[in-house]
Amino acid sequence: MLSRRTARARRATTVAGRTRTTAVTTTATAATATATRGCVARAATTRATTRGRGCAVAARASEGPTFVTTPIYYVNDQPHIGHVYTSTVADAYARYRRARGEDVFFLTGTDEHGLKVEQSAEKRGIEPQALADENSQKFRDVMTAYDISFDEFIRTTDDYHERQVRALVKVLQEKDAVYLGRFEGWYDEGQEEYYTESKAKELDYKSPISGKDMVRSSEENYYFRLSKFQKELEALHADNPDFLTPSARRNEMIGRLNEGLNDVPISRTNFKWGIPMPDDEKHVIYVWIDALMNYITAIGLGDGKDSIVYADRSKYWPASMHIMAKEISWFHSVIWPALLMALDLPLPQRVHAHAFWIREGRKMSKSLGNFVDLACMDRFKEHYGLDAMRYYLAVEGPIGAQDANFSAERVQEIYSSDLVNTMGNSVSRTTAMINKYFDGEVRSEEANGARVTFDNWDWPARTSAHVQDALTAYDKLDLPRAAAAAKNIVMDVDLFITETEPFRMAKDESKSAELAACLYQCLEALRIAAVLLEPLMPNKMAEFDAGVGLGEGSIAQRTKWGGLKPGTKVEKLALFPRVEGLDENGHPVKT
Ligand code: MSP
Repeated sequence: MLSRRTARARRATTVAGRTRTTAVTTTATAATATATRGCVARAATTRATTRGRGCAVAARASEGPTFVTTPIYYVNDQPHIGHVYTSTVADAYARYRRARGEDVFFLTGTDEHGLKVEQSAEKRGIEPQALADENSQKFRDVMTAYDISFDEFIRTTDDYHERQVRALVKVLQEKDAVYLGRFEGWYDEGQEEYYTESKAKELDYKSPISGKDMVRSSEENYYFRLSKFQKELEALHADNPDFLTPSARRNEMIGRLNEGLNDVPISRTNFKWGIPMPDDEKHVIYVWIDALMNYITAIGLGDGKDSIVYADRSKYWPASMHIMAKEISWFHSVIWPALLMALDLPLPQRVHAHAFWIREGRKMSKSLGNFVDLACMDRFKEHYGLDAMRYYLAVEGPIGAQDANFSAERVQEIYSSDLVNTMGNSVSRTTAMINKYFDGEVRSEEANGARVTFDNWDWPARTSAHVQDALTAYDKLDLPRAAAAAKNIVMDVDLFITETEPFRMAKDESKSAELAACLYQCLEALRIAAVLLEPLMPNKMAEFDAGVGLGEGSIAQRTKWGGLKPGTKVEKLALFPRVEGLDENGHPVKT
């Protein structure tokens, strides 16, 4: 009898085996066929060399290339805190991986097709493309305003994307993963999603998202054979507990998979604003298929090895981390892997579906009019500064399974406690003392050839433990914990100052070497904390860098004790000014 572990490993090998052994066989135009096959072969090679045996998901945790994505945002919505949040989380992660010295490709963009865009444009009496242009630009501006360090901003109306989606769908047809069939059931117009009779009944014939009535529908559609991948998808989730995080989402998906999979319609005929199906132009490709494929069209995989646009980017596949919120985890952790399996492409390493920002315990929605919209976000940003808002989003945000309330009071509390009173205060105190006692010059922590140490303060060991904690947290995308680890270093510095009393040492000339060492150790610990905070607060930490120097090399090198150079001249540094709180909408509080 096989042990459980071996049995599981065998099952998983079958999943992985699809990728390793199956070449894309297609009768598409020769160009498409060879191109796609080429890219698959290459992507598979990357994976074969790095994959843990029997694992369906590429094990490429520590070396690059690294590929991080946000969802591509719908152009029929206005940007709000949710979009800023996911993008900020992804940005912090991308910055962290770059800081590790990896070759990172960070992708974001806009999702521009579908009935809703067509209808909104019609209402305004403009072409859908004009609406898409206008709103895509708004999202792009948000990315710039919130310092999102993306490498590519893809638009699903970009020619290169449309061309590749058609080529990829054609491959799916030729592999018999897509067929023409007829659907009888219910349609959620808002979400552009079909429901079977039983599922629609369960939902009381109302959209689970908008609550609007579903409409009866009968339509000839192209279908994706999702059901064929039932076993592989089950194995994927069973064998790779970290494929989809947090675990609450994984359990949810396993539960849904247990209900059994139906084939899904992937074309629509009731509107025009989409990418036409190959060889059957009265159908447009379902917006979700079009959208999901952005993750591979942006790196040219749909064009194959001779990618017309981005041949050199194919090395980034498989994605290291797809980041989004929980409402679209099904598409990313079930539909998307199935499409990739059908295309014989390796699966992403990890999908993280965080929870929602909510307000006063209630979901943000158009009908309640309680969105933290961009104008509101911008008011907070203007008042507290961009990095402070990024920090707030990172430490209070719904990174795990729990929704998080946006609260002006908490913004003020976190700003005051973590940034003004902890990091800011410690940095200004330390740099002020260095100015007062040593004319702004950082002195060595050594005297007579040995490090001066203080009771119970083994700084290299202490900082190294916090650094480890922070790096592990970043690896897991646990941004609140990464921030807490950095904050713990700063709190240690405060405690150290209280215990060693440098202001007393300053009164005793014989203690000058001790005082020098004490202040060196304060500033060096703060430098290490600043390096750890850089992915979250790149601008403020750049100020620290300009004033003190953060050091060179990878994050591992820069967080080693001793990077601060004796002889460095520092001025008193005030990173976070004290400010008043704002009301819930980001306006000054009236007194
Ligand atoms: N276009 C699709 C995604 C296609 S990806 C291949 C889409 N777009 S969206 O504009 O609706 O953006 C949804 C995403 O925005 C969520 O998954 C999440 O990343 C972010 N958020 C939207 N509202 C949110 C909250 N209330 N809270 C946190 N993030 C949320 O779905």
